[in-house]
Amino acid sequence: MTDRQLATEYPPSGEAAYTQDLADRLQAKIIKDNPTGIMRRDAHPKMHGVVKAEFIIEQNLAPKLRVGLFKEAVTYQAWIRFSNQNGTMQPDIKGDIRGMAIKLMGVPGEKILEQEQDERTHDFIVISTNVFVTADVQEFDALIKALTSNVLAIAWFFLTHFRVGWNLYKSMIKFANPLQIRYFSTTPYAFGDAAVKYSATPHVATPDTIPTDPSDDYLRLAMMSQLEKGDALFDFSVQFQTDADTMPIEDPGKEWLETVSPFRKLATIRIPQQEFDSAKQKEFGENLSFSPWHALPVHRPLGGINRARRVVYRAISMFRHEYNKAARREPTSWDI
Ligand code: HEM
Repeated sequence: MTDRQLATEYPPSGEAAYTQDLADRLQAKIIKDNPTGIMRRDAHPKMHGVVKAEFIIEQNLAPKLRVGLFKEAVTYQAWIRFSNQNGTMQPDIKGDIRGMAIKLMGVPGEKILEQEQDERTHDFIVISTNVFVTADVQEFDALIKALTSNVLAIAWFFLTHFRVGWNLYKSMIKFANPLQIRYFSTTPYAFGDAAVKYSATPHVATPDTIPTDPSDDYLRLAMMSQLEKGDALFDFSVQFQTDADTMPIEDPGKEWLETVSPFRKLATIRIPQQEFDSAKQKEFGENLSFSPWHALPVHRPLGGINRARRVVYRAISMFRHEYNKAARREPTSWDI
């Protein structure tokens, strides 16, 4: 037992320096990883598809759930980008973390980022594992430093950081279809005075299976085939922090047990039947910028890993857009 409080941040000293070091390392890494062509994201560069969606907030939510964005039963238009985490554009059959980046549009109210306060977008970023790889920024910076050095440095890092290796190993999974994966924020967010984590859970009637002879991009093909036949649905839910010690804010590498605090549904995500495989839509997805900080203050990102993302996402997104001579703008509708 400690005297830690619920929904409270405890920033460690030195975090800002590790964050800057991380931003610099990741910029150097993408320059090395993309010697020609498009300068891509450091993480999640391979997109399976960017699709139109609706974010339908539930009617009659319990008063505790009617907070911020979820006060009224509104439907927002959204874009959702599905991706592989690996820094290279590898075949989908390799075990990997998968991403689902949701961008709502038309959300009123001043947002957190001073440079983008008047934008009407609100992002929720979730991945296919319920625990992040590291506990804090210092550990993540050390991981990137090792991974961009040599085999000995990598071996030494994992020998001395057992939990990082274990969390990474557990999340390197092969999947059949990005529309049939359960996703998690892993990091916490404010929900008014409380703290929550997010999850998106697919409705799956008949699960797809991994093809016996999978093409490099079979995850895109699986999405295309499902959305050719009909809609895809997810439940969007939150899990409340109910214990400040066993459900920490500052360590997203530790699971918040659903047996202790179950997820509660707030909205339905509907991805309508559609075609999304055009060159124009791929370019649109490439040039989007997601950030957990594209948010209303009432849903402010919490914890060290999220604090680092405030700096790093903007730095990498600005750099790649400048390099690619691409306009950096938030979308306002399904028109592209
Ligand atoms: C300190 C920790 C982290 C760092 C340094 C980091 C870094 C990055 C960077 C640089 C990008 C690309 C930004 C851009 O160019 O637009 C990115 C994208 C992404 N990150 Fe992270 N990340 C971190 C933690 C996380 C966590 C905890 C999650 C869990 C949800 C996550 C999920 C994603 C996803 C899904 C994308 C792709 C978004 C898109 O589709 O554009 N990251 N990350």
